[in-house]
Amino acid sequence: MQPAVSSTRARILGIESSCDETAAAVVRGGVEVLSNVIASQVRTHARYGGVVPELASREHLQNIVPVVRAALEQAGCTLRDLDAIAVTEGPGLAGALLVGVMYAKALAFALGKPLIAVNHLEGHIHAVLLEARKQEQALPQPTLALVVSGGHTHLYLTQEIEGSWRYKNIGRTVDDAAGEAFDKVAKLLGLGYPGGPWIDWLAQHGDPRAVAFGPINVKQKVYRAAQEQSPRFLFSFSGLKTAVLRYVQSHAMAERTEARRRALAGVPNAKPQDALALCDAETLGLIASFQRAVVDDLARKTFAAAESFAIASIVVSGGVAANRELRQRFFAEGKMSALPVAFPSLTLSTDNAAMIAAAAWPKLVAGEFANELLSAVPSLALG
Ligand code: KG4
Ligand code: ZN
Repeated sequence: MQPAVSSTRARILGIESSCDETAAAVVRGGVEVLSNVIASQVRTHARYGGVVPELASREHLQNIVPVVRAALEQAGCTLRDLDAIAVTEGPGLAGALLVGVMYAKALAFALGKPLIAVNHLEGHIHAVLLEARKQEQALPQPTLALVVSGGHTHLYLTQEIEGSWRYKNIGRTVDDAAGEAFDKVAKLLGLGYPGGPWIDWLAQHGDPRAVAFGPINVKQKVYRAAQEQSPRFLFSFSGLKTAVLRYVQSHAMAERTEARRRALAGVPNAKPQDALALCDAETLGLIASFQRAVVDDLARKTFAAAESFAIASIVVSGGVAANRELRQRFFAEGKMSALPVAFPSLTLSTDNAAMIAAAAWPKLVAGEFANELLSAVPSLALG
């Protein structure tokens, strides 16, 4: 076991490769982001409308060395200057995770530096904690963390006890993650990939009351299968996605959708703005109503859980935390409930390695290191 480090100058290299971004960052003292480099694979996967695991692994292999090199260069340091190497252990795609884990392991052992394993979801939570610490924003504990991304919709009771962070999962999705629902709905409406930013932008132009989707309640039957958690804090988005599909079918929107898909395919590097002229009021209303239903559900269950567990602050993180309406709603409800609410900056909302290095900081201080047996754990749980 290596000695624990307490210097606030300690520099950690974070490596993240759990899905479709190869990322590396150097963070000093768990707060100061010296570099944050991300190689996105969006273009590779866009034509398939989702992440293709084999392609993701291949791109990580190509990107990992130049991305780490760029992160060190931007941070103005060399491998020798690092105090530890942190890497995402899971959850994520097996082949994708393995690239980061094996590379980090090789670096750590070749350099004789400590290796720190980080849970990707813990990383998302620390993206917010890092920025809150930097801005000296008070986030009283216990905190309730909503991690809402393309792969997860989870609620965690989060608390720091004697320097180490503890998490207890009290809610999760029983089917699709919220980001997955954004991506699937965008796809079925002929919009681009990933769908979240498209829906987010287009929703501003539609009437969110156009389609009444109603509240999403997880059925008792599903709750029994999920056992451990209260159905009040379980999420489910696949029914909503099907409701959007039914609406498209029953309102004869298929042809318009296909025309939009074809038109956008002809626009190089198409952006959400390019889709506005291709969407009629009915489509924009459907988009805005879908987003409103997701935001309503995330806010209703998160604030109910906060009340039920006597929570003192709320943090929201993960790709969907970039959503404008979600941010507005959480800040407004936080104000009404007198609960401080924190979101990460847009750069730290989606996958990045600064959050991995930040989550590794308390582990470095506590001397919680991984050994040479570390491997990727695709279904790694938190709490
Ligand atoms: O955290 P992330 O980068 O990767 C995962 O760990 O999944 O999240 C990606 C997800 C995608 O589903 C994407 O559509 C969604 O985050 N997303 C958004 C927005 N930006 C990204 N969803 C809603 N509104 C956005 N502005
Ligand atoms: Zn993520």
